Amino acid sequence: MIVLGVESSCDETGLALYDTDGGLLSHALYSQVAMHEQYGGVVPELASRDHIRRAIPLLEQVLDAAGLQRTQIGAIAYTQGPGLAGALLVGASVACALGLALDIPVLGIHHLEGHLLSPLLASNPPEFPFVALLVSGGHTQLMRVDGVGRYTLLGETLDDAAGEAFDKSAKLLGLGYPGGPAISRMAEFGDPLAYKLPRPMLHTKDFNFSFSGLKTAVLTVVKNHPGAVCDQDRANIARGFVDAIVEVLVAKSVNALRHTGLKRLVIAGGVGANTQLRAALNAAAARKHFKVYYPELEFCTDNGAMIAFAGGLRLKHDPTQASRNYAFTVRPRWPLAELTAA
Ligand code: KG4
Ligand code: ZN
Repeated sequence: MIVLGVESSCDETGLALYDTDGGLLSHALYSQVAMHEQYGGVVPELASRDHIRRAIPLLEQVLDAAGLQRTQIGAIAYTQGPGLAGALLVGASVACALGLALDIPVLGIHHLEGHLLSPLLASNPPEFPFVALLVSGGHTQLMRVDGVGRYTLLGETLDDAAGEAFDKSAKLLGLGYPGGPAISRMAEFGDPLAYKLPRPMLHTKDFNFSFSGLKTAVLTVVKNHPGAVCDQDRANIARGFVDAIVEVLVAKSVNALRHTGLKRLVIAGGVGANTQLRAALNAAAARKHFKVYYPELEFCTDNGAMIAFAGGLRLKHDPTQASRNYAFTVRPRWPLAELTAA
């Protein structure tokens, strides 16, 4: 069956076609970053309006790329939550209107389930069970994953998400929005010994995180800096920040593997694209004898492919999960643990 995936939870409109027998057929993405950049963050109303503009042209694009007609789509999976309410409503209404017009079933997908399962789209996918480190702009969680919909929360952030810490610290350094990739590039030129920033909760026995203090530490360094902050200072602070956050993420992931006795670690979410995090995880994996799996770079950040894929997996297990009830609701707040097994 061919599943159309529709992602619109934040500032990226993503559509994709996934064949449950043949794999991913096509995907297309429109990022609104340039539009939100001038405001220093996502403006929800602008995001919703832009999703409306992009959805149908992207649908035509993925159909053309796959050489398919609309009538060949068998089901539609859309991001039902969590995310920005208005943005989610656009994707849900596009999906349900198309479903009604084509007389095919629709299925609401949890955005984080999409991220969690995205490494399974790679050419060498991990087997269940595994530990997943989910690090996105809105979430930081360690989960035990036993199968589709079988997720146990091991720990999560008590305040800012990892991506949020990247973005806020980058803003403090004047690096624009979203700051994750920028602060990471800058850190490459920094002196690792210049600033030793705090490693919040590094030694606690649980699997929780806290990153707001780290961002405050960046603020304090910038504020107390004698004279103007030059590019080299910025690079040094960026390096201090990246080293601190990476050390905590790696240490907690290793603890979670030890606690569960599992040997497979899956990284998902936008921060999973970070080169320093990947290098540190690869080094830890070699040292501690576990395997680490990443999504393809293009599927680390938000995209339609992971939604089409999660929908396809769920429908493969149980086709009745999709319905012809097109009266949709969205769930801007939706704990992942509420999902049931596929
Ligand atoms: O998963 P995602 O696309 O959206 C959410 O669901 O939140 O993650 C976006 C987050 C942003 O905070 C962005 O700064 C961060 O991922 N990010 C990175 C990198 N690429 C994206 N953070 C650090 N290094 C990167 N290379
Ligand atoms: Zn996301």
